Amino acid sequence: MRSHYCAEIDEQNIGEEVSVCGWCNTYRDHGGIVFIDLRDRSGIVQLVFDPKDYAQAHNIASEVRDEFVLKAVGVVRKRGEGLENPKLKTGKIEILVSSLVIENKSLTPPISVGDESVGEDIRLKYRYLDLRNPRMQEIFITRSKVAQATRNTLSDLGFLEIETPILTKATPEGARDYLVPSRVHRGEFYALPQSPQLFKQLLMVGGFDRYFQIAKCFRDEDLRLDRQPEFTQIDLEMSFCHQEDVIEVAERVLESIFKACGISIQRPFKQYSYAEVMETYGSDKPDLRFGLPLVEVGDLFVDSNNEIFSSIAKESEKNRFKALCVKGGDNFFSRKTLAEAEEFVRKFGAKGLAYIQVKEEGAKGPLVKFISEVALEELLKRVGAEVGDIIFFGAGEKKVVWDYMGRLRQKIAFDRGMINQDSYEFLWVVDFPMFEKNEDGSISALHHPFTMPKNIESEDIFAIQSVAYDVVLNGFEIGGGSIRIHKKEIQNKVFELLGISQEEAREKFSFLLEALEFGAPPHGGLAFGLDRIIMLLSNAKSIRDVIAFPKTQKATCPLTNAPSAASEEQLRELHIRVRETKK
Ligand code: AMO
Repeated sequence: MRSHYCAEIDEQNIGEEVSVCGWCNTYRDHGGIVFIDLRDRSGIVQLVFDPKDYAQAHNIASEVRDEFVLKAVGVVRKRGEGLENPKLKTGKIEILVSSLVIENKSLTPPISVGDESVGEDIRLKYRYLDLRNPRMQEIFITRSKVAQATRNTLSDLGFLEIETPILTKATPEGARDYLVPSRVHRGEFYALPQSPQLFKQLLMVGGFDRYFQIAKCFRDEDLRLDRQPEFTQIDLEMSFCHQEDVIEVAERVLESIFKACGISIQRPFKQYSYAEVMETYGSDKPDLRFGLPLVEVGDLFVDSNNEIFSSIAKESEKNRFKALCVKGGDNFFSRKTLAEAEEFVRKFGAKGLAYIQVKEEGAKGPLVKFISEVALEELLKRVGAEVGDIIFFGAGEKKVVWDYMGRLRQKIAFDRGMINQDSYEFLWVVDFPMFEKNEDGSISALHHPFTMPKNIESEDIFAIQSVAYDVVLNGFEIGGGSIRIHKKEIQNKVFELLGISQEEAREKFSFLLEALEFGAPPHGGLAFGLDRIIMLLSNAKSIRDVIAFPKTQKATCPLTNAPSAASEEQLRELHIRVRETKK
């Protein structure tokens, strides 16, 4: 129906007859001459309707309202002197319309296209209108480019695109499963995959050597700004490989994705051990766009005259005593903002927030009196403090200290505008512990139970490391993977350490354990969170902005009203009785 997309037309087309299609973005009547900004996926072009030239087209134009769907034919002309719009790509030209068709009308839209000040619920209810926003269109154009670049690069590297099932058995990735009842098998359920993990391993046993998939994953977990219950992974797996090989492939994929979006990135990425990032940044997904390292100063408090501090400092295995020096901080932290910072860390388990202000006349602050002069001098030297700085301290159980000091680091950088929004700081986190202790005392795998351990014979279960790696960008974990266990004995040993009985392992993963006995090759892989990559590439505030039809924070869809009650008949067929109905 069209000869050009709206924003494709420019001064080179002056004098040509063109036909364009799209939506009425704005309508203005200037003393009888009507102007319509026509919008399509490419952008906007101005249509002009002059009754002196084309009375019929002008008559039809006067019926047009916002979001009417139009097809216009006319000749491109230069805009009059002083009427150019430098903000528009097509701002130097306009189309004098000779024929206009209203292809469809629109009710008055409940949200103005592009108005992001309206509540998210209403934007999601009328998502198809929200998606007409040029910013949203840009995001999905980026998303499509990224998928394309991924496919091209991985195909070039010899990866085969293979699909894995959606109706399947539970794949443990640390979240709850979404279950689908079986009609045919009474009382039995499929689980939606939390990832294609087990199937991609089976594809390696199947001899495909290199697999990838842009895969939908489903996880019933608490939602956050970077988490959706249904999200997309770029999932890959390869045989006969080491950790470095997977890392190399992953970096090449990221390089091509960013290149497709006009951004060149530096390779190879830095690599840090899990222990290093936790000690220095208090997080396993640190934002490296700014410094603010955490510095251990526990040894300087062992002889403190404050008993609480000295006893924390003495137990250096279990505890941490971290200092965070903020350059020039003494000048911008007022009594009020200090109280706010303390309130902030308390939310994450801190008992308080001690600090030292470095003044011309010497160090001041609540902590100074608890430390000897010599120790204080060493402390200032160690954190590189100068006059005008402020040093914050966190002391206590290491995980708690890492967490709140890491968050404080991020908050200060964010609040003080220390983050360069245009930079992309990638890093790998490697040498993860294999296991972690949960709050209830149980043990779980930090990645997943199919990850190859390094030193499985270690006496201390928490000293066992895994051959796992995460890739982090600007404070977000954008991907993770590992070398897998390809031998049944090791897999059984890991299940045993996790407290998973042989019976339970057989019941849940017999197919995998069996496959490992039929010549499983050494293999490993990784999955990127595609939505998170797009979120960072397009500077979106939330993951919901980069998914065409996302769920709300409460895992609902205001557009379709999902989830919704099933009919009695459907429930009967599925052999399901709902114990309590929604009030
Ligand atoms: P993992 O669980 O780390 O690993 O997931 C891989 C990446 O997927 C993204 N991600 C999410 N994105 C949006 N919403 C969610 N709820 C969500 N959960 C995870 C993250 C994460 O880094 N099978 C392994 C991969 C492997 O070992 O090959 C896995 O799924 O960016």
